[in-house]
Amino acid sequence: MAKKTIAQIFDLTGKGAIVTGGAMGIGRAIVMRLAEAGASVMIVDIDMDAANKVVQRVGEKGGKAQAVKADIRSLADAKRVAEATVQAFGSLDILVNNAGIYPISKALDTSEELWDRVLDINLKGTFFFCQAAAREMVKAGHGGRIINLASIDAVHPMGDVSHYNASKGGVLSLTKALALEWAPQGIIVNAIAPGSIWTPGSEKIREQQEAAGKDPLEMLKKFQTRWPMGRPGEPDDIAKVVLFYASEAVNYVTGTMLVVDGGYLLS
Ligand SMILES: NC(=O)c1ccc[n+]([C@@H]2O[C@H](COP(=O)([O-])OP(=O)(O)OC[C@H]3O[C@@H](n4cnc5c(N)ncnc54)[C@H](O)[C@@H]3O)[C@@H](O)[C@H]2O)c1
Repeated sequence: MAKKTIAQIFDLTGKGAIVTGGAMGIGRAIVMRLAEAGASVMIVDIDMDAANKVVQRVGEKGGKAQAVKADIRSLADAKRVAEATVQAFGSLDILVNNAGIYPISKALDTSEELWDRVLDINLKGTFFFCQAAAREMVKAGHGGRIINLASIDAVHPMGDVSHYNASKGGVLSLTKALALEWAPQGIIVNAIAPGSIWTPGSEKIREQQEAAGKDPLEMLKKFQTRWPMGRPGEPDDIAKVVLFYASEAVNYVTGTMLVVDGGYLLS
């Protein structure tokens, strides 16, 4: 069989994709890149105003996207979204588990409610979206791609987010376990570990610090000393790597985590 061209390798025309938390930040950039590559994208979010704006933007660029309101903590929502994606686009080929939260809290102050919220969104939601998507992929018999947003916090604690560290360590472990279990069905599962990326979520952290009477730039200054490339990451730095994992450039790589941190972990 003739080798595919580079353009064909990155062409996602005809593929159906789900991006959780696709309304803003890293998720929004992922939606834009997958749609640009030809995929039809289902944006899953709790913020429908923001999600609908992304749908509109994709349409203006000639792509195809829909938005569905769902809380990724809900098993029923995961099943509903996976089925709706197959119904809307004819196929579910790519799942990007991006939605996640990272509220700052020292370990001694962390309540059971906060622990449960962080673990439920970041880890439980990720697992059950993987399960719901894989069920559709197995049923269709065509395999698929799952890309989970972990964090460098999965392997390197940055401080004051032990609940988040645990959740993202779990995402890394889950990625490897599902990659092993679903390799025979052709489902390739990988993770991405962003470093510090400029998003509405990271902006919220700075606002929280300020509200708590702390210097909002304190954390920024701490991070800045660890940017060998002299800048934080942009959402599109992550989105392009998601596109790589979703494409046929990656046919024989599964259970890995690609660090996208501009050298943060080296410094
Ligand atoms: N920004 C960073 O520096 C950074 C670094 C490492 C890892 N990450 C990871 O990347 C992912 C995206 O981060 P971001 O900074 O773009 O976040 P963000 O807060 O800017 O955007 C997150 C999106 O997820 C949605 N969301 C939140 N909870 C949800 C739920 N329960 N159900 C459905 N949607 C929900 C939000 O409405 C929002 O649209 C997260 O998993 C985060 O942990 C981010």
